[in-house]
Amino acid sequence: MDNWLGLDGSRVLIAGAGGIGAACAAAFTQAGARVAATDIDRPRLDELGQEVHKISANVTTTEGCEEAVNTAAEALGGLDIMVHAVGINHRVPVLDTSDDDWQRTLDVNLSSAFRLGRAAGRLMVQAGYGRQIYCSSVSGLLAHPDHAPYAATKGGINQLMRVMAREWAPSGVTVNAIAPGYVETELTRQHLDKPGVRGHYTSLVPAGRLGTVDDLTGSVLFLASQQAAFITGHVLYVDGGRTLV
Ligand SMILES: NC(=O)c1ccc[n+]([C@@H]2O[C@H](COP(=O)([O-])OP(=O)(O)OC[C@H]3O[C@@H](n4cnc5c(N)ncnc54)[C@H](O)[C@@H]3O)[C@@H](O)[C@H]2O)c1
Repeated sequence: MDNWLGLDGSRVLIAGAGGIGAACAAAFTQAGARVAATDIDRPRLDELGQEVHKISANVTTTEGCEEAVNTAAEALGGLDIMVHAVGINHRVPVLDTSDDDWQRTLDVNLSSAFRLGRAAGRLMVQAGYGRQIYCSSVSGLLAHPDHAPYAATKGGINQLMRVMAREWAPSGVTVNAIAPGYVETELTRQHLDKPGVRGHYTSLVPAGRLGTVDDLTGSVLFLASQQAAFITGHVLYVDGGRTLV
């Protein structure tokens, strides 16, 4: 399986060392890749395996994004793959959403995707090879209440990703997204723990359960692999059928 994916020796940057980013770091490492990870939260980075090169950075600034990408490329001797797994969510109705909540969500979720993608894309286009994978969400398609800024950033990621995919396809760089349904991580735990919420969301999933971070790593590794060379601009729903209903 690992050989089939051809990830041995690949140089990977994972932005976001939370639940999904950490699972991806472990899965890439197991597949023989060399991994760097960046996050604003140093303790989260420190929880990653010791073989992961750790880069503290705030990806809401251009400088933070450029430095994270360039530091990773220097440490790894180049950059073949970038995974964007940074995100926040303020769950409030539109009428209660402040300008600050709106702007902060756009900065963390969407502008970081543009700035990291652009910095990594520069290196990948020049090298004539690259794979970028973004964490979109079922919220990029469905109209979940209390998710306006978050949903806007995920719809934005889908279209940003498609344009980058089109522009960079002639250079051997593919750009895709996975769109998970609800997965239990720091991003969702408090909300899921509210009375009735976990059961309600579970009831909306035809597969009859919420996802786990390990449900996502296979699709990320596949999209990052040699096997996915002809797949670009695609949003892969990994949601147990949530978007079918
Ligand atoms: N968990 C889910 O149910 C779910 C579902 C669909 C999509 N996603 C998406 O997957 C991605 C990862 O989510 P997760 O569940 O692992 O969340 P998480 O909260 O566990 O991890 C997110 C990480 O982003 C980091 N981060 C936040 N602001 C930052 C900044 N300014 N600079 C650098 N790092 C910063 C956090 O420190 C954290 O480690 C997000 O884009 C999220 O929207 C998650």
